[in-house]
Amino acid sequence: GCMVSYTLNVTLAYGAPSCFARPIVLTSGVFGPAIAVHQGDTLKITLVNNLPVAFPSVTDGISIHYHGLQMAGSAAYFDGMAYVSLCPVAPGKSYTYQFLVNDPPGTYLWHDHSAGFKGDGLEGPLIVYPPRLPGAPPAFPPLAVSDLWSYDGEHTLLLTDWYHASTNSLLFQLNMPFDAARVTNDTGAWSWIGMPQAILINGRGFYGDCQLFPGSGGNSAPPTCMPSTFTVPPGRSPAQPWASNNNPGCTHSQFTVEPGKTFRLRLVNAATLVFMTICFEGHNVTLIAADAIPTAPISTRCLDLNSGQRLDVLLTADQPPANYWITVAPQYRIGAPAGYAVLNYKGVNTSTFPSSPPPQPVNITPWGFAEDSLVRLSPRLLTASSDLAVNLYLSPGEATLAPPPVPTKIVLVNLSQPLLEANGQLRWALNNVAMTRNPPCVSLLSKMQKYPKFLKQMAVNASTVNGTGAGPFVGISYVKAKDKMTVYYDGISPAPLYPSVGLHLVENAGGEVVDVVVNNFPANSFNGDYRPVVGPTRTAVEQHPMHLHGHRFWVLGRGSGAFNASAHAAGLNTVNPPYRDTVTVTGGGWVYLRFKADNPGIWPFHCHLLPHVFMGQQLYFVEDIANAAPPPSKVPKCPATCQYNFAPYTKA
Ligand code: C2O
Repeated sequence: GCMVSYTLNVTLAYGAPSCFARPIVLTSGVFGPAIAVHQGDTLKITLVNNLPVAFPSVTDGISIHYHGLQMAGSAAYFDGMAYVSLCPVAPGKSYTYQFLVNDPPGTYLWHDHSAGFKGDGLEGPLIVYPPRLPGAPPAFPPLAVSDLWSYDGEHTLLLTDWYHASTNSLLFQLNMPFDAARVTNDTGAWSWIGMPQAILINGRGFYGDCQLFPGSGGNSAPPTCMPSTFTVPPGRSPAQPWASNNNPGCTHSQFTVEPGKTFRLRLVNAATLVFMTICFEGHNVTLIAADAIPTAPISTRCLDLNSGQRLDVLLTADQPPANYWITVAPQYRIGAPAGYAVLNYKGVNTSTFPSSPPPQPVNITPWGFAEDSLVRLSPRLLTASSDLAVNLYLSPGEATLAPPPVPTKIVLVNLSQPLLEANGQLRWALNNVAMTRNPPCVSLLSKMQKYPKFLKQMAVNASTVNGTGAGPFVGISYVKAKDKMTVYYDGISPAPLYPSVGLHLVENAGGEVVDVVVNNFPANSFNGDYRPVVGPTRTAVEQHPMHLHGHRFWVLGRGSGAFNASAHAAGLNTVNPPYRDTVTVTGGGWVYLRFKADNPGIWPFHCHLLPHVFMGQQLYFVEDIANAAPPPSKVPKCPATCQYNFAPYTKA
C-alpha cells in the first residue's frame, strides 16, 4: 500500500447551496469532498480547524469519524467520536489521523462526530478501492476495478438534507428546557429541529418553489430564487462567500453517462434526519453492495437509504439518449422536500431538462412497521466461495462472510420514546439511559485503558446518580462483560418517569459473539403531551437508523412488535443475512443483530439521526480494552472550554 494524505482545512463560509444564503462549513474550500484510498493504503488525514470561535456551536471542536471502517488495531484511537476515542480539535488547532485501511473495497462516509458540524457540511464520501496492482501508478480510480462486476466509470451521489439555520444552532435549542406551551419560535425553550428546507445532491439543490419542474417556467431558476446577498454578521470573520465557481447552488447536479456504457453509482445518505428513497427515471439499476459489502445482485428502479447507509448500484445507459430525472424523495417525514438530479446522456444538451415528471417512489407507510431496502429488496449476502472472497478482496477474517452460528452473549436494547429528564431537558434513551451531553473532558479510551479504576473514580466525582438531573454528569450505567444476558428495561412496561443520564457503557470481553436485540416497541409513548414529528396517530413510534462503530453486524432478522424468542428465534437467518453497519429499526418493530467482539476499543452504537444522537440515544460497547493498542504518541489537547472538567483522577 501507499500513504495517501489529505488536508481537511475546515472553514466557515457563506454560501447558498439550496439558493438560500447561510453560513456553511467547507472542507478545503468545497462542500463535502470525497476521500479515496486503496485497500491496504495508509490514510493520513490532517484536520485543520479554521472555524471561528464565534461560530454558534454546542461543542468545543471538530472530530472526524470514518463511518463504516472498522478502525482495527491502533486505529481505534482515530475513530472520531469526540471525548470517546480522542478529544476534538479546537478552533485554531490541527490534528493528524493516520491508520491502515484494510476494509473491503466499497463506499463509506466521513463526517464530524462532535455535534452539529456534520449537518452544516462537514462530511463527505469515503471510497475504498481494491488493492493496488503491483507496479500500478498511485492514481484513482484503479484500472482493474473488480473481477466480479465490470463497469466503465463511476459517480458518487452524496445525499444530504439541508436546513436554512445552522445545525449547531438547531441542536442548541434541543438543550433548552422542555415546555409544551413553548415549543416553537421561543429561543428560551426546547424546540424540535423541524423539517429540512431542501435535499442536496453533491451540495446542489433548490428549496421550496425554486425547485424546477417541467412546465413551471423554463430551464432556469426563477429570479426570486437567486441567492440573496451575503451579509456576514459581525464577529464572524474570516468568513467569506463561497465563490460562485465552486458554489453551484441553484442548479441540479448532473451525472453524465456515455450511451451503451455501465456506470457504478455510489449512493451515500449523509442526512441529519431524512430517510430517502432514490428513483431513476427510465432505468433499472442493479444493487451490488450495501454498506460496502457485496450483495447478491438485485434489479430495481428505486432504493431506500437511511442516514448513514450506502448503496452501490450499476446503471447501464441503454435508453434513448436524453436527460432523465433522478429523484431523491423523503420517507416517514411528512412535509420534508424532495431533491432532484439529472442523468445526462453524453452529447445531449445539458440545459434541457427532462420533459417528463420526475419519478416518485411508493411511499413507505409512515409510522407503522414499514419496509426499507432490507425488506423490499432483501440484499442477501453472496453465497461465499473462497474464489469469490479472493475476487472481492475481503479481509481474511471476512472471507466466509457467514455469521458465527451461536452467540455467547445477548444484549437487549430497547429504544424508548423521548423522555423528560427531571431538570426539564428532553432526552432520547436506550434502555432508558440517555448518554450524557457533558462527558468527561478526556479521551475515555485512553483513560480506561491506562487506569482500570477510572470509571470508579468518575462515579465518585459524579454529582448525583441516576437521573435526578441536578448535576452536569449524573452517573454511569455499566454492564460488565460477565453479565451474559442483559435486560434492564423490557420496553413493554411503562418506563420509569425519568431516564437516567450518564455514561452508558456495555462491556464485551474479547472473542465474544454478541447478539444485540433491538426493540422499538415502547408501550409508553411520551411523558408529556408532545410528539417531535407529526404523524397520523398519537401513538406513533419513530424509526431509528442504528449504527455501530468498529464493526459490521449481521442482520439475522427483523419484524413487527417486540422480539420474542419463542416466536422468532427459529426464523433467524444465519446463512446469508445482510451484513451492514447501519440498520433501520422501524417504528413498532425489532431487529436482531450479531457481531464478533474481535476489535479492542470503545465502539458507539447509536441512532444516526443527528438530533437523536445529540439527545442521548447512544451507548458505547467497551470491548476488550485490556488488549487495545496503545494511544498514538500525539493526541489533541482537550479544549480548555470543555463543559465538564471533573476533579482530576489520581493514578489508581
Ligand atoms: Cu456516521 Cu457514529 O456515525
